[in-house]
Amino acid sequence: MSEPVLVVEDLRVQLDTPRGNARIVNGLSYSVAPGETVAVVGESGSGKSVSVMALLGLLPKRARVTGSARFRGRDLLTMRERELRAVRGDGVGMVFQDPMTSLNPVLTIGRQLTEGLLAHRKVSGKREARERAAQLLADVGLPDPRGALDRFPHELSGGMRQRVVIATALAGDPALLIADEATTALDVTVQAQILDLVARLQDEHRTGVVWITHDLGVVAGVADRVLVMYGGRCVEDGTVDDVFERPAHPYTQGLLGSLPQLHDGGAGGSRELVAIGGTPPPPTDLPPGCVFWPRCPVRGDERCATEQPPLTPVGPRDGAGAGSSAVPHRAATFYDAARGAGEVGS
Ligand SMILES: Nc1ncnc2c1ncn2[C@@H]1O[C@H](COP(=O)(O)OP(=O)(O)O)[C@@H](O)[C@H]1O
Ligand SMILES: [Mg+2]
Repeated sequence: MSEPVLVVEDLRVQLDTPRGNARIVNGLSYSVAPGETVAVVGESGSGKSVSVMALLGLLPKRARVTGSARFRGRDLLTMRERELRAVRGDGVGMVFQDPMTSLNPVLTIGRQLTEGLLAHRKVSGKREARERAAQLLADVGLPDPRGALDRFPHELSGGMRQRVVIATALAGDPALLIADEATTALDVTVQAQILDLVARLQDEHRTGVVWITHDLGVVAGVADRVLVMYGGRCVEDGTVDDVFERPAHPYTQGLLGSLPQLHDGGAGGSRELVAIGGTPPPPTDLPPGCVFWPRCPVRGDERCATEQPPLTPVGPRDGAGAGSSAVPHRAATFYDAARGAGEVGS
């Protein structure tokens, strides 16, 4: 087994807000192996973006970040700004939903791409850098990649800009790629092209990927493992097959609830998470027990309201396939999926 590229342990993020102390990320732990894709899913506001921004030092200064996040053995959370900037430019590629935050409006696309390639010595000189940059733009499906090199970000459409950001993130052959709703705004054809490209790079460079998305079709297509977040916590994780076929947490069951079969060969189009009644609790006012308790359709006893269920291995169901996978399937719930619906508590 090779060492993980990223090991996140007990990550917590708190922020003072006018409404009080917001507990946005509450003890998140996971790791990403070389070549592995971990998808992070959960409703809007569950702390997905904040959890990855914390890793890269991109939160406001007043944020209190604790825990550890070792990238190739070094803790990102204790790095100085300079080291962190070097890591962001080289070892870790990142793509956020809004491309304008990642592009410099006063530099041409070509300049932004070639500077990175030259700075990290991925090419021998300017000419090769331009060649490589044009190739990267072609790889992400930009029409007229050579022409695009001389254009400024505002001259491109939003979708094209996002493809440039993806090309920039991939330019350094990163050991870790963090993609936060990176392809959400792109049309399905372009999205498929980019997912293929990332998969190819992963094969070549053993890139570890953290892929945040609302699109369960994307999760089923690209991820090895899935981590379900709610209220800044991981409520369930495991292989995509385990979690999608045997969701154990009532929250995951809700999200997947009315989905058509994910393995039906794909009728096309994207499958979004399902809306669940009620809204997530604000991070300034998290419930003391299970974070999902106020909305839970199967909540049972006192315990759910007062105790935080720890992540525990999901038991066998239908008496088959239990524990066969090397990757554990875990859920943070007192509700026992092994015994079927309606049985809650101890
Ligand atoms: N800079 C900030 N200041 C205060 N609260 C924030 C800040 N950024 C995010 N939050 C809050 O943190 C929670 C999680 O946000 P976010 O990580 O963006 O969720 P997700 O990406 O899962 O939709 C939300 O309740 C959001 O309002
Ligand atoms: Mg987000």
